[in-house]
Amino acid sequence: MTQVSVSPARLIGRIDRNMFGGFVEHLGRCIYGGLYDEGSPLSDANGFRTDVLGLLRDLRMGVLRWPGGNFVSNYHWTDGIGPRDERPRRPELAWHDEESNRFGTDEFLAYCAELGTEPCICLNMGTGTLREALDWIEYCNGTGDTHWANLRRANGHPEPYNVRYWGLGNEMYGEWQVGALSAEEYVREATRWARAIKMLDPEAKLISCGLNGWNDWDQTVVDGLAPFVDYHSVHLYTGSDDYWTNVLQPHQAERAIATTKALLQRAAYAHDLDQAPRIAYDEWNVWFRQHGAGLEERYSHADALAVGTYLNIFVRNCDWVTMANLAQMVNAIAPIVTAADGVAVQPIYYPVLLHARAALDAGADTHVDGPAVSPALPPDASRWGHRIADLGPFTVVDAASSVTDHMDRVAVTLVNRSPEPEETRIVLRDFVFSGPAAVTTVTEGPADGGDLPGIAAARVTEGTEDLSGGAVVLTLPPQSFTVVEAAITRE
Ligand code: AHR
Repeated sequence: MTQVSVSPARLIGRIDRNMFGGFVEHLGRCIYGGLYDEGSPLSDANGFRTDVLGLLRDLRMGVLRWPGGNFVSNYHWTDGIGPRDERPRRPELAWHDEESNRFGTDEFLAYCAELGTEPCICLNMGTGTLREALDWIEYCNGTGDTHWANLRRANGHPEPYNVRYWGLGNEMYGEWQVGALSAEEYVREATRWARAIKMLDPEAKLISCGLNGWNDWDQTVVDGLAPFVDYHSVHLYTGSDDYWTNVLQPHQAERAIATTKALLQRAAYAHDLDQAPRIAYDEWNVWFRQHGAGLEERYSHADALAVGTYLNIFVRNCDWVTMANLAQMVNAIAPIVTAADGVAVQPIYYPVLLHARAALDAGADTHVDGPAVSPALPPDASRWGHRIADLGPFTVVDAASSVTDHMDRVAVTLVNRSPEPEETRIVLRDFVFSGPAAVTTVTEGPADGGDLPGIAAARVTEGTEDLSGGAVVLTLPPQSFTVVEAAITRE
């Protein structure tokens, strides 16, 4: 038996819709043949696949990051504007491909407008220059009678795009990154960029490159850049063929958030900042199977449980994680898979959809008391090698919750990682449920039930649960993700 105690009056912080963000990179079939497919009967006049657009719209992403990822470190944005047939093809260094540049800044920003999503553009700090970055920002946001702003107008967009979020490079620490830097070099360079960008556009929100919070890189970069940026990023992927490792490894995100937060608080104190930068968890997902072939990971139901847990962790830390971007959205390590004549969603789509739908205005304190596991995990269980044993034991049920500003509704998201059903009782502190609960549950689908060959299916069921002694009592199916939504009033 598990008891989940929700305290609506003990708020963690507001939930920024940017927590439900996405990321699309010029990688494999993410853009070309994914969300953008010129000439396809499934595309609109812009070349946007309407079936993909529909599925992405349902995810209500607050923000969409682009164009990389590793790709950006050799991307020159001026290649991707103006008449499409005149754009240069270039060698693509990160994924050993070629870039046609047919999808560029105007296409991306039109796509964000279609989705109703804020854009987040990552700048090229590999082979790109500060000059190029300033020009890009002027092209997007300039209101004056200046060259790049006028070129945007000439390219068909009279109004500024008002792009707010700009990444100061991508993973500049990695030897896989074109133009990688040491932490000290990055701080020096990114400080120059940040100062100049804020001169051009004081409204720009900047994101410094981060890793996982417990790395020397993060310490040096946060110490150096905290006065100049609005966010420090975290990138963390997990995943394993070992079931328990796979479903528990997202708890590494709790370590990443805690250590990054400590660095940010320390830097805010040292630099006497009014407010510490927040965390942009701008790449996260399960990813361990595919490292070639466009990273076309095929996701399992266990992966969906891991994804549901990641989002629970972000909700529980919503005062610090004010942006998070699922990497990625289409075909490459993605919930959405396209074929020439159709589209399918993988099991990880559902926790993302249901979390984004259920999340209310503010995260609320949630305590779980119940059976726990501390499995002995194989040391080589993950390609990424993140240790987690020291973070356990973990309750088999993971939970998070949110409430409305009016304190009249609660949404609780529950992941039962156990292979057994788990009797679960949800109780409120200082509040009472004022009606039955709506319950949506995701379980493993039929083996061959996916909409495209090789894509696993999920089963989503909806129902209501009457109160039992003032509590919502449910039997969570084995290995399931559940959303419970109900009206509440103060006791
Ligand atoms: O999302 C795939 C890759 O993972 C990104 O390009 C890079 O930033 C990270 O290493």
